[in-house]
Amino acid sequence: MTTIVFIQPDGTRREVDAKAGESGMQAAVRAGVDGIVGECGGACMCATCHVQVSEADDARIGPREAIEEEMLESVLDDVSPASRLSCQIKLRPDLEGLVLNVVEVV
Ligand code: FES
Repeated sequence: MTTIVFIQPDGTRREVDAKAGESGMQAAVRAGVDGIVGECGGACMCATCHVQVSEADDARIGPREAIEEEMLESVLDDVSPASRLSCQIKLRPDLEGLVLNVVEVV
């Protein structure tokens, strides 16, 4: 189990215990976290799981795969280095305490 934290745009903080092998999006949808929809089921085709992360957490997650990069570029005018698709974040024990900042659904 890996505990991750979702922070809403208004600052509301919610801790979620992720199951082994879950993505950030799956953990959020299972827990009913507002603002994470996961419309495409994690196929990297919707960006309704968009989150932002700190530089330190981005380094812990690892670099974006090309498919994540392409999806972000197709829906965002300005892709911040902090932007990630939570369906592409596979939760591992070393990501304990990961903070995912929820952004408006695009
Ligand atoms: S759930 Fe669709 S891109 Fe992440």
